[in-house]
Amino acid sequence: MIKGGRPLRGKVTISGSKNATLPLMAAALLTREPCTIRRIPNLSDVRFMGDILRSLGAEVTFEDDSVTIHARSIHEVGKYDLIRKMRASICILGPLMGRLGKARVSLPGGCVIGARPIDLHLKGLRALGARFTIRGGYVHGETRRLTGTEVFLGGRVGPTVLGTANIMMAAALAEGTTLIESAACEPEVVDVANFLNAMGARIQGAGGPTITVTGVPELHGAHHEVIPDRIEAATFAVAAAVTRGQITIQGARPDHLGAVLDKLREAGVKVERVGPDLVVSHGRSRLRPVEITTQPYAGFPTDVQAQMMVLMLLVPGISVITERIFESRFMHVPELCRLGAEVAIEGPSAIVKGGRPLSGAQVMASDLRASAALVLAGLAAEGETTVKRVYHLDRGYDRMDQKLRELGARISRIPDRPESD
Ligand code: UD1
Repeated sequence: MIKGGRPLRGKVTISGSKNATLPLMAAALLTREPCTIRRIPNLSDVRFMGDILRSLGAEVTFEDDSVTIHARSIHEVGKYDLIRKMRASICILGPLMGRLGKARVSLPGGCVIGARPIDLHLKGLRALGARFTIRGGYVHGETRRLTGTEVFLGGRVGPTVLGTANIMMAAALAEGTTLIESAACEPEVVDVANFLNAMGARIQGAGGPTITVTGVPELHGAHHEVIPDRIEAATFAVAAAVTRGQITIQGARPDHLGAVLDKLREAGVKVERVGPDLVVSHGRSRLRPVEITTQPYAGFPTDVQAQMMVLMLLVPGISVITERIFESRFMHVPELCRLGAEVAIEGPSAIVKGGRPLSGAQVMASDLRASAALVLAGLAAEGETTVKRVYHLDRGYDRMDQKLRELGARISRIPDRPESD
């Protein structure tokens, strides 16, 4: 429950990246030796990945903000009951194929933000010599030995982030050299490559469109610190702007936030770098409408689109968001309209008529980033907003309500009443 209308002020520290942590944990399956990953965010998705790795036979120990994974001996079955809960669990496929040469992993199933196929993951692993069949809802994979080759991973809408991670992880233990072309360039891919290299892999070029992986016979244990969560940082930056406040964002990587900071500045939001911190404030100038098209990194991230829409709602004039990565990723729009927003969806674009006051209401979260947008809208709205199904938020934001309270927000958790969902 949020009582809106109060400017947020103060400092917030960004947690480790969810989207890096999940494949990093899966990468620990590639060695018999223990691996420790530090600065992991406190999220249900992360604990859930721990459950998946345990179900494969690994020992997983969480302690403060680190996790130690010891995959001394593992088996190849990723069960439906676990996999269906989180699409990102598909990133165990590459490590299982690399380490065991076999995998039996449930297909992850549907997702509210549109079809999320795994054809490119399978295409890449097939190129390395894996054979796959789909039986009983499971992908059955096997190979005698993965062998390095050229893999083109460009898809319908561009590269695939977890697909690139999966192929890198499998290729790390393949025989010979793999050239991944049209690889995803996201910082999370670079983080996985850095961890794999710390484990003894030989990977070059991560962060660019061509990655070279020279296979090694085995990997060893390693320690790693996760990169900061650029989506969380972007969400707090938008929070400063929509509440007309000023937030000092600590522990982020401004170099990972280029497209977001650029759009905020274009809209008239004040963004300053003060030493290693980012200071974001509404500033004194009138905000301007902007046009945004989501793109693969280094373009504007699809995961910040919903939050940015909230800012556009408050800016007089017409703003446009075009979503190019996922279909039907405007689930937040009807809920924002309950707060008084005026948004029309035309194909992949949302036309936002900004400048109308928002007023609190009860709304329902549909997915992770949509729920963040609803919280931001509640902070900006007059009166009281109740966001239901906040478990979506807990999947990907580390104690968001607590961090917002520390910035002065009036936000509290109230027990859910399932019958009124
Ligand atoms: C990751 C992120 C997610 C982010 C997304 C895009 C994690 C845990 N999740 O998801 O938060 O929104 O990147 O930045 O890191 N596609 C295919 N075939 C495939 C795989 C993907 O057509 O085999 C398509 C998807 O449907 C989508 C696009 O490629 O349209 C990008 O998806 P992808 O980069 O794979 O997203 P994820 O890695 O699943």
